[in-house]
Amino acid sequence: MVNSVGKPLDRVDGRLKVTGRALYAAEHQVPDAVSAVLVMSTIPKGRIAKVETTQAEQAPGVLAIMTPFNTPKLPSPPPGSEKNRSTSRKLNLFQDDQVLYSNQPIAVAIADTLEHATHAAELVRVQYRAEPFNVVLENGLAQAYNPEEVGGAGDPADSSRGDLKSGTAQATARAQHIYITPIETHNPMEPHATVAAWEGQKLTLYDATQGVFSDRERVAGVLGLHPDDVHVVSPFLGGGFGSKGPTWSHVVLCAMAARRVNRPVRLVMRREQMFGSIGFRGRTYQTLELAAKADGTLTAVRHDTVDQTSSFDQFAESCSLQARMLYESPNVSTTHRLVRLDMGTPSFMRAPGEAPGNYALESAMDELSYELKMDPLALRLKNYTEKDPEKNKPWSSKSLRECYRQGAERFGWERRNPAVRSSRDGHWLIGQGMATACYPTRRSESSAIAKLRKDGSALVEAGTQDIGTGTYTIMTQIAADAIGMTPNQVTFRLGDTEFPETPVSGGSQTAASTGSAVKLAGQALREKLVQMAINDAASPLHNLGANDVSIDSGYFVSQSDPAKRESLAAFMARQGVSEIEAKGSAKPGEEKKDYSMYAFGAAFVEVRVDADLGEVRVNRMVGSFAAGKILNAKTARSQLIGGMVWGIGMALTEATVVDPNRGRVVNANLAEYHVPVNRDSPVIDIITVPEDDPHVNEIGAKGIGEIGITGTTAAIANAIYHATGKRIRELPITPDKLL
Ligand code: MOS
Repeated sequence: MVNSVGKPLDRVDGRLKVTGRALYAAEHQVPDAVSAVLVMSTIPKGRIAKVETTQAEQAPGVLAIMTPFNTPKLPSPPPGSEKNRSTSRKLNLFQDDQVLYSNQPIAVAIADTLEHATHAAELVRVQYRAEPFNVVLENGLAQAYNPEEVGGAGDPADSSRGDLKSGTAQATARAQHIYITPIETHNPMEPHATVAAWEGQKLTLYDATQGVFSDRERVAGVLGLHPDDVHVVSPFLGGGFGSKGPTWSHVVLCAMAARRVNRPVRLVMRREQMFGSIGFRGRTYQTLELAAKADGTLTAVRHDTVDQTSSFDQFAESCSLQARMLYESPNVSTTHRLVRLDMGTPSFMRAPGEAPGNYALESAMDELSYELKMDPLALRLKNYTEKDPEKNKPWSSKSLRECYRQGAERFGWERRNPAVRSSRDGHWLIGQGMATACYPTRRSESSAIAKLRKDGSALVEAGTQDIGTGTYTIMTQIAADAIGMTPNQVTFRLGDTEFPETPVSGGSQTAASTGSAVKLAGQALREKLVQMAINDAASPLHNLGANDVSIDSGYFVSQSDPAKRESLAAFMARQGVSEIEAKGSAKPGEEKKDYSMYAFGAAFVEVRVDADLGEVRVNRMVGSFAAGKILNAKTARSQLIGGMVWGIGMALTEATVVDPNRGRVVNANLAEYHVPVNRDSPVIDIITVPEDDPHVNEIGAKGIGEIGITGTTAAIANAIYHATGKRIRELPITPDKLL
């Protein structure tokens, strides 16, 4: 039996993508569909005094202009009606005249064509009664409040073990600094888009969403529909990175617009509209204090995070969580506080909490290593945790030591001269830095169905999403192995609420959650088929023992007598049914109580910094990760490379800049919001350390979508310090900060 899981199978949807036949949300052709274009607020706070729509309404092709003054009141959803609270952001659905942030949707122009709707949106005139506002985190530090809970698992905002004071008193070296990370905007290549079509009280949404079921539930809740009356379809996504996790206002507005004009409506957000209204990573202000004995043993760790939320909703960037578990220290104190700003609500963005938090913690560890005159990697090994020191539980598995070893060896870490500013190539200063990577392992309840078809091939379905990560491919591989087929005998379908229920594709949990369900469904189908073959008098396998019969590459085979075999297609021809199906579902179990579960890794980076101009180039990076079973060597490598490229963006280029005087984003476009491009990324060497974890889930996979960004950002900042002797504690590290 040849197993497919683990192999570098090409993306099964690759051909559809490169030939343009993969349909993204806005590309679904719905007969009679018209276009809607959002009008966004241009002030951060106040009231809408008047919306002048006469001119817009008279423009060619216009069907309607929706405003807060002509939009019907929505029913109030019964409290507790939504399961997925973590993905329920408060929405702006034209129910009042309040402006709560700049770039808030405040009107929708609906017309026969996109051009006409765009033109009409330009003609909508809004008069405001502006009110005083604050968009600067640092101005609100004194008003910061305790959010009580943070992060995907609802961890307490604050933690404390031991006694910080006595810990610092024992220390011979200390590092205490403030690290600041800017607002970042996701910028998936595919803009947020929705096509909404009503049939009576039934609504179909072709939506760019990371969670078809949570989307369905949220839209149904807000519009007062039964979830069964909402059908969400999302077969392809051009990136999401968390921004398409929650359902945002434009999705519901699109459905409301379709109801208003009694036609299907297509709504695509423009790039600049995506700065503030669909979530972003909030600005963080983090205080790190580390103290250690002369041999590097940590005696105290303090991590206090302040970040921003909106005036009307709450989201916390859970930066201080890693400080609780990443290193051994008897004395640890962590806090999270939030400042309400007159901006949109921040949200999940690739490794929410972990990415900026890890930057601060791993920068501080680097600073401490220089205080101690100790190798940065040796300092981390000195404080290695053999169990989770906060939860006092064993790790389900941890191969970080091996990640450090293999990463350091590949990178050539031992050849590094520890002195700062010790290496130079012409006007380039060369430096090397490293950092630990870490991301929690999560799963949620998920289900799947596997069907054997007449021709002997399998159709496997689960609601889930492929956000560009490779879900189609790995699920095909898992199903093929579980049933006993080759991947080309299996078709996997996803992205549809008609399929079995699955969780949101966030928190790096899709492979673990839905992969487990697909495996169980595939195994259930195989067992059912084997039993049917044994009972089938016409089968060569008739009356053999169940343990003697297996399915291999689409054939029933007897183990004891390999001459006894029959293809699944030949078997199906006698069954008189079009399909034979079996279901599987998987959910978190006891492992959550018994183990602390994380993926770990390490990033090693070499940079060169122009001594005269402050320009930073990343020369090379090695990322070494252990994340349980690697389901597809090629898509896994791509995910980890993608995560590390995000680390380059966070370290060097990305920042959403808000004008403090006008409360508006000034770089709401891809020309001035600098996502790293190919030219910014060196060859990235990815090592996946083999790791067998029997505890995390049925397939032993930990999830790899987010861990790549952690570690990388700090490793780059640490390499810049090593190259230049300049410690930059506010991201991104742009040339002006190095001059
Ligand atoms: Mo990810 S930020 O959990 O989609």
